[in-house]
Amino acid sequence: MSRPRVFVTRVIPAIGLDRIKVACDAEIWTDQLPPPREVLLQKIRGCNGVVTLLTEKIDAEFLDAAGPQLKVISNYAVGFNNIDVAEATRRGVRLGNTPGVLTEATADLAFALLISAARHVVDGHRYVLAGKWKTWEPLGHIGQDLCGKTLGIVGMGRIGCAMARKCHGGWDMRILYHDQYRNEVAERDLRAVQVDFDTLLRESDFVSVHTDLNPTTTGMFNAAAFQKMKRTAIFINSARGPLHVQSDLYHALKNGDIFAAGLDVTDPEPPALDDPLLTLPNVVILPHIASGTVSSRNGMAEICADNLLAGLTGQPLRAWVNRPN
Ligand code: DGY
Repeated sequence: MSRPRVFVTRVIPAIGLDRIKVACDAEIWTDQLPPPREVLLQKIRGCNGVVTLLTEKIDAEFLDAAGPQLKVISNYAVGFNNIDVAEATRRGVRLGNTPGVLTEATADLAFALLISAARHVVDGHRYVLAGKWKTWEPLGHIGQDLCGKTLGIVGMGRIGCAMARKCHGGWDMRILYHDQYRNEVAERDLRAVQVDFDTLLRESDFVSVHTDLNPTTTGMFNAAAFQKMKRTAIFINSARGPLHVQSDLYHALKNGDIFAAGLDVTDPEPPALDDPLLTLPNVVILPHIASGTVSSRNGMAEICADNLLAGLTGQPLRAWVNRPN
């Protein structure tokens, strides 16, 4: 019996990729950059399964190009805003993602951004490298305390909750959260309080966003939102760039509407080199690396392979985004 044909849009950790190669007739895109769209559409033609990243847009055009034999799309990410889920579901294509294994790593990085932005970690490093450190400065590089402050979490799912737990347990922070659902575990264990968005913006010293990107959350951090925040506030985005309006964030940071920001995601990614945000001293920007630890990337690769292989044989996916009810 011939092996299923699959296209894998990037090299992922061997712990998952090797299993895919053994079980499938797999073509792997080995470049650092994603395949150009027209190449992608040609490569997936006739495939039974595809492994994708958040850089690949999966829409009707993609699904048409693949053809009706496509059974499964295994997205190497927990987020799936790159996928038209309704369209794939309508065509009976199973979608998998990689939840759970990157929760702590992502929350750790959100916290790293928070402390970096609060205490001038990156700006201070640049200062030293530039030879500007001449002496101990009583008034230099003054930042914000963390202990006992109020953390506002937007999106109290797995990652938001992990961030809240670290900040509550380690830094005795009071936790506010905004989410369409109640998180009773966070309320019980962290004394988290669910509030409306405006209250969260007004009362939080730090606002960390962990919600998914969808039409209702796109651009929720805009000029109006930044203006409601404290002038000492720090904004952290480790979820998706389009949750904030980048030019509004620039103006808020430049004008001192908020104190600082820490971003693991931008809009677009990467940001243009002439994006004025890159000129500011009070923003720390990382290249979307929150899930970048050995165990979390390996875990993602394992789930990704499990999802792909299950979908190819008509089995339930380990993490199934469009599981029928
Ligand atoms: C995800 O999984 O959605 C991240 O953005 C990449 O790890």
